Amino acid sequence: MHESFENIIDALAERGLYVGASILPASLTSQLYERVLALSSAAQLQSARVGRDARAAEVSAIRSDQTRWLDEKPLEPAEHEARTRIEALRAALNEALFLGARSAELHFAHYAPGASYKTHRDQFGDHDARVVSLVFYLNPVWQDADGGELVIYDDERAPPQTPRAAPQLARVLPIAGTMVAFRSEMFPHEVLPATTHRFSLTGWLRRDG
Ligand code: OGA
Ligand code: MN
Repeated sequence: MHESFENIIDALAERGLYVGASILPASLTSQLYERVLALSSAAQLQSARVGRDARAAEVSAIRSDQTRWLDEKPLEPAEHEARTRIEALRAALNEALFLGARSAELHFAHYAPGASYKTHRDQFGDHDARVVSLVFYLNPVWQDADGGELVIYDDERAPPQTPRAAPQLARVLPIAGTMVAFRSEMFPHEVLPATTHRFSLTGWLRRDG
């Protein structure tokens, strides 16, 4: 098995959280970066605030990124390769951790300067099929002063309605070569505003098909 899969399995088993080297090779990460830049400049990413449902306005107060979902079987080579590798990770995690994850949903995300995603969870109780959250950062250059960290909170020591009072478990700079994986129900987390454009490929392993 892929050696980096072992590290992710161990970290998820022990802490529910992995922050470390990406399973995507550097060349693929840079192809994904080129891809999301092209999609972004062609206005192919959509704001979370765009939508017909009543929740759209509510959502825009929480998050201000723009996203584009990948197809089930992407035609674009970098997307296809990323999905193949992430599906392999899904299979390895299922085997080692009995996750029962039957599918992966993936989207590119673009946070323009100042955009953020306020403290939230990726899954609430049984209402959501998400079991593991994955984030692959794409920016080849990132300075500490650019901000845009993902902050992950420890939810065991504070009530969920006051996540800011909870200790920080991790602060992750969104730089290419880094990935994050965590059990979707375990950790409140937020994306801080950045001074520059912030790009990622984000996904969830899901219990449903
Ligand atoms: C999300 C999320 C984290 C990040 O999209 O739900 O929390 O670092 N993203 O982009
Ligand atoms: Mn999230």
